[in-house]
Amino acid sequence: MMKGRAVYIKTFGCQMNEHDTERILGILGAKGFTEVDEPKKADLIIFNTCAIRHKAEQKFLSSLGRIKHLKKKNPELKIIVAGCSAQLQGENLLNKIPYIDYIIGPDNIHLIENIIENQFSNRVFIHENPDLAKINLPVKRKDRVKAWVNIIYGCNNYCTYCVVPYTRGKERSRPLNDIIQEIKILAEQGYKEITLLGQNVNSYRDGDVNFPSLLEKIENIEGIERVRFITSHPKDLSMELVNVMKNCRKICEHIHLPIQAGSNKILKLMNRKYTYEDYLEKIYWLRDAIPNIAITSDIIVGFPQEEDEDFEKTIYALKEIEFDGIFAFKFSPRVGTLAAKLDGQIPDEIKSKRLTEVLRLQDEITERKNKKLEGKIQEVLVEGKDEEGFTTGRTRTNKIVKIYSDIKPGEIVNVKITKSYRHSLEGEIFKE
Ligand code: 5AD
Ligand code: SF4
Repeated sequence: MMKGRAVYIKTFGCQMNEHDTERILGILGAKGFTEVDEPKKADLIIFNTCAIRHKAEQKFLSSLGRIKHLKKKNPELKIIVAGCSAQLQGENLLNKIPYIDYIIGPDNIHLIENIIENQFSNRVFIHENPDLAKINLPVKRKDRVKAWVNIIYGCNNYCTYCVVPYTRGKERSRPLNDIIQEIKILAEQGYKEITLLGQNVNSYRDGDVNFPSLLEKIENIEGIERVRFITSHPKDLSMELVNVMKNCRKICEHIHLPIQAGSNKILKLMNRKYTYEDYLEKIYWLRDAIPNIAITSDIIVGFPQEEDEDFEKTIYALKEIEFDGIFAFKFSPRVGTLAAKLDGQIPDEIKSKRLTEVLRLQDEITERKNKKLEGKIQEVLVEGKDEEGFTTGRTRTNKIVKIYSDIKPGEIVNVKITKSYRHSLEGEIFKE
């Protein structure tokens, strides 16, 4: 085994990708690689890419351009492009940018071990891997308090705007025992919070065990104090899940439930398989069962054929539901998706105007909701320190809190909120 090699890895996109990076670093760590923070110090450079919107792909391409000179200086340097853009572009990317050595899609990251030892003659690894969910890879985790755990890979939903079914393939659930085993080990290592990961966690199934029963089993793992999950699809959110969330102490009072749009016409064109009324009903279920639950969401503006009156329905939805926070995006046509080919594409100026309006409205709502927390006691899991050296953590509702005292990461404390901002809270330790 060669020792002492250095890897630089840059990650784009979602938590799924961030966790894949932890797994890539796990594999490479076992091979003697250490992570470095600058490309020029590396023997191996990896870009773990995202393809969800045009902007994400552009960012990756410009990062790639910035390291071209390093390859010229050091022909031994290896460059790997992994992730969703790698999967989508495959061979084409290699033809376009010949200084890339290997292309590895998300289904094939386990091969990296052999690839770096030059065990293959081909350079593109984007084939489907039906066994992905059965592979347990070493993980080098960034955090010591909270950990991500994959439960389901891929997606079968085919929302018409979304590239994910083409980049991460068909839905495959991980075996129950592997998940439980991984979480038990995390608990032994001192992890306090786990976030279950999947494009649509609600579709999880292994034999008789569905997502709510998986959560019930995780509730019993000693040492773990908090359980979160992302992402849920509104069409699959069941009353059974709501009841389990209500009854399991460890499941945090937060759900990320992407609505995407408020107009039924647009939801239909998006193939979301729910109406605004269906969505609203689930919000009522959640809020009835779990008072104080935080609900966050994703919004797309400027989807093809979105008229002013459709957009107004999104605005109406934001006002009616009052999310705790949202991520909002301009529709970005992705090659291979149905929405990219729809008539009635919206000009960028209108998309930008709508995005600004959505964000401005949500800022007001978020600020107003956070203000209501001033003077209230919140349970905070301490995660570490911020740049200024203040202790920081998160509430069960996933809001960031800055605490005025020095507390060890991993501790759970009650905090009285003294000040609220749009994106964070401040508070002091509360003693009865
Ligand atoms: N354009 C804009 N936003 C998109 N999303 C997914 N695909 C696109 C696209 N083509 C958004 C959705 C999704 C989030 C992860 O990204 O809102 O929930
Ligand atoms: Fe994550 Fe989707 Fe981006 Fe892939 S395309 S990294 S799954 S957000």
